This record gives sequence, C-alpha cells and structure tokens, in this order.
Amino acid sequence: MRHGCHTVIASRNQQRVSDAAKKLVAATGQQCLALSLDVREPQTITAAIDKALKKFGKIDILINGAAGNFLCAASSLSFNAYKTVIDIDTVGTFNVSKIMFEKYFQDHGGVIINLTATLDYRGQAFQVHAGTAKAAVDAMTRHLAVEWGHNNIRVNSLAPGPISGTEGMRRLGGHQPNWDRNILRSPLQRMGNKTEIAHAALFLASPLASYVTGTVLVVDGGSWLTNANDYMKLLGIDTYYPSKL
Ligand code: HXC
Repeated sequence: MRHGCHTVIASRNQQRVSDAAKKLVAATGQQCLALSLDVREPQTITAAIDKALKKFGKIDILINGAAGNFLCAASSLSFNAYKTVIDIDTVGTFNVSKIMFEKYFQDHGGVIINLTATLDYRGQAFQVHAGTAKAAVDAMTRHLAVEWGHNNIRVNSLAPGPISGTEGMRRLGGHQPNWDRNILRSPLQRMGNKTEIAHAALFLASPLASYVTGTVLVVDGGSWLTNANDYMKLLGIDTYYPSKL
C-alpha cells in the first residue's frame, strides 16, 4: 500500500481484518477492503472476489498467506489435525488461485505470491503437517507457473524464516528462552522483521521481477541451514544419545 496499491485483506474473522484495514488506511492513505472468507469454502472465495472486483474493477496481485500451524509430533497428530492444515494451506491456496484465475487473471494476467516455509527442506521436527502442506504449495507454484505463464501470470513462493513480532514466531518459535541462542547461531545472527518480508513480496509483485516465475524466494537470513532440528533434544530427551553409545 505504501507503493500505491489499494488492497483487499480477507480472513475468517471479519473483525480482525476490519481492525487491520483501519490501521493500514491510516498509515498509507490507500483504500483497504476487509472481507470475510474461508479458503476451504470456494463459495466464500467467489463472493469475496466478486466484491473486490466490484469495488476496484481489477485485481493485479494475489497473495496466498492463509496458514494453519502448531507444534505437534507426528505420533500425537490426529488424522483431522493433519487434514485441517493441508486443507487450509494447500487446498486453500489452490482454491483461491483457481477462482482468481477464472474470475480475472485468465484474461488480464497477474501475479501470485504463495507464502510457504523452509520446514520441509530438512524435515523440521514437530512440523510434518505444515512442512508437507507448504512443500505441496511450492510444487503448486511451479505447476501453475508452467500452465499459466502464457496467460501472463507469474507465480512464485516466498518462504520467510523467523520474523519478530509475528503470531508464527510466538506460537511456533519454540521455547522463548532458546530464541536468542538458536538465532545467534544462524548465519545473519538475528531474526528478520516484517519490513524485510514486505520488501521481498514487493520485489516479486513488481516489474523488478518481471522475468521471475516458478521459483521460491527464501527470506530467512540463512537460518534453515542451521536451525535446531534434533528431534530427541527438542523433546527434551538429552540422555538419549549417551545411552545409545
Ligand atoms: C495438536 C491441534 C492443535 C494443536 C488444533 N488441533 N490445534 N492438534 N496440537 N495445537 C487439531 C484439533 O484437535 C482438531 O483435531 C484439528 O486440529 C482441527 O482443529 P479445529 O480447531 O477444529 O480447526 P480450525 O479452527 O479450522 O483450525 C485450527 C488451526 C488454526 C489449524 C489450529 O486455528 C490455526 O492454525 N491457527 C493458527 C494460525 C497460525 O498461527 N498460523 C501461523 C502460521 S506461520 P481433532 O482430531 O481433535 O478433531 C507458519 C510458518 C512456520 O506456519 C515457521 C515458524 C517459525
């Protein structure tokens, strides 16, 4: 919005997006339409896109950011918990992208940015649900880039790392006293901030990335390379190894 876009933000919780819209309008002077939808319910997506097109007449950029996640060992995850995350992250991304394609992008072109994660690169502990869901989204990025390139649609993934001041970090960052230790061991030795993710999204959405499609831009200060991922240690079972030696 600081770079000239009017924006539509959507979530299941109308109040939450309405409050956010007021702040965004006050900060940028652009318009922001707050809508309620569930990415698992195609008819709610269709209704929201219709409202957005009625208000603004066009849509240039789609950012798929809906993500369900929590820390849970695979052995403790219920079938429904696993399915819920796949439904929100993977099926939700497909639903919104497909409806957006049919309603507008097919004839006018556009940019799609899918928010993913680095969790699957090393099989992050307690994240089989989100890791597999986001890996599928990265695959979807490549499939849709191939199929929709001739419609002048660019499709890319953006995979953030640990970002300060986010719900993801608060709920998924693990035991807070360990943050400094883990983050200081990462290549850039600090958390990212929201502005750094915004700049990456701006790059992918803008003509600066006009020849970029079907790729994943990782914006994590290199932290997936060094992130703690020792399942037994993360479970707090430090004595596991000596007993095995
Ligand atoms: C285990 C859980 C659970 C938890 C829910 N479930 N929370 N299982 N541990 N903490 C199970 C439920 O018991 C239920 O299974 C199933 O999941 C569905 O739960 P519902 O509450 O009925 O579903 P719903 O309201 O549709 O969605 C729940 C939700 C969602 C998926 C948990 O509310 C959510 O994830 N909100 C948080 C969003 C969030 O923080 N996203 C940040 C993503 S950032 P049963 O079997 O009981 O029916 C990110 C980046 C990663 O992912 C990088 C981090 C550093």
